[in-house]
Amino acid sequence: MSFSAHLDALFEHLRFASISTDSRHAGDVRNCAEWLAAKGRAIGLEAEIHETPGHPVVILRSVPKPDRPTVLIYGHYDVQPVDPVAEWRTPPFEPTLIDGRIWCRGATDNKGQHFAHFCGVADALAEHGDLPVNVIFLLEGEEEIGSPNLEPFLRSHADRLRADICAVSDTGMLGRGIPTLTYGLRGIACLEFIVRGPSLDLHSGVYGGAVANPALIISRIVASLHDEAGRVQIDGFYDKVEPLAEWERAMWASLPDGEAATQAETGVPGLWGEAGYTSLERRWARPTAEVNGIGGGYQGEGSKTVIPRQAMAKLSFRLVPHQDPEEILALATRHLQKVCPASCLIEVDKGHTGPSYVMDPHSPHGLAAQTALRRTFSDEPRLIREGGSIPIIQSIKNVLGIDSLLLGLALPDCQIHAPNENFTVENFEAGIRLNRALLEELAR
Ligand code: BES
Ligand code: MN
Repeated sequence: MSFSAHLDALFEHLRFASISTDSRHAGDVRNCAEWLAAKGRAIGLEAEIHETPGHPVVILRSVPKPDRPTVLIYGHYDVQPVDPVAEWRTPPFEPTLIDGRIWCRGATDNKGQHFAHFCGVADALAEHGDLPVNVIFLLEGEEEIGSPNLEPFLRSHADRLRADICAVSDTGMLGRGIPTLTYGLRGIACLEFIVRGPSLDLHSGVYGGAVANPALIISRIVASLHDEAGRVQIDGFYDKVEPLAEWERAMWASLPDGEAATQAETGVPGLWGEAGYTSLERRWARPTAEVNGIGGGYQGEGSKTVIPRQAMAKLSFRLVPHQDPEEILALATRHLQKVCPASCLIEVDKGHTGPSYVMDPHSPHGLAAQTALRRTFSDEPRLIREGGSIPIIQSIKNVLGIDSLLLGLALPDCQIHAPNENFTVENFEAGIRLNRALLEELAR
């Protein structure tokens, strides 16, 4: 198939508003799954749509041949919400080609990336009627909501998903044209909590000074998460965290300036973080506590003299090897309850979790991935860990017993999860070549 036909197909894929978190889009998620299955059948793959309690899982399988390795290729066809929608320069679900980039929600995270693998397989089948390895695509519709139904699916279908290695393009590249193998991801644990005070919003003049203000209390609770050195102050939070390995610190120190990159990519006025670590170490290999949302009280125009009856915050923790997400949620809950004064009530709701992941980039499969990256980008692969999470990667290890090669195609300025998400045409094309090289190397 020609590259422009692949591009047209990717545009079709991108037009589905497959936002997994928003029930109003459940039909779009399903239509996207059905489209993928039909595309798979059209290139000669066996396609199955599996129902789950949530969004469907799509499996595409090449006709299995004995005596050759099987590669599981994981991706997710669900996307993040598009708000704030006013900040998009092009309609979020109308892929638009400008300056060599495809602008659309899901362009990089993750439709463009997994579809590059699909196109690589399509080309190989069209050229040779065969593939160097057996391929199973595992495409889920719930990654952006923590993959709540995928591990049970892996367990119940483990026999049919048996593979030698998993390949995933859902991570980043250090920069344009820089081949990057990610050998570790942080884990995640989410929670939200409400601080309740008076039984109704109060006049802040009549009662102010005599009752605790939940918005103030929640600020103090949130502020208690870190000390002045940027360390998380939850008792036991670091107990299982291992010090960084010297070889990793040295390898990352030899990469282009991480402080400058972090500053440039984020536009912050100044950097921040745990004392004693570089930006890259903080982002890739140290655990964190973040506030993802906080609210309470009057947010409209002008002033309103009120003591709000409640305030809320949403937190997430990024975790590193050996930290157990459930245990971290328990420790965090204890901390929040301890810090909340008797003048207010606190209610904590635990959210989704996912473990961290690390593999050996010098294993035989890791070396095959490095060779494929070298062939695709004509440069020496950089070995990194990343701060984002793909919880199912560790489940794949636990349930299927295989590692995942994280061969990301996301550029630092691709704006995933933000308005104006984009994917370069260059990386879509490179991703197709990467798939070809990878399957060849894994066949050796
Ligand atoms: N593709 C990302 C994860 C990612 C991004 C890894 C950049 C490495 C570099 C994935 O789609 C994602 O956003 N994951 C969520 C997981 C969560 C919702 C359970 C995340 O990391 O917040
Ligand atoms: Mn994402």
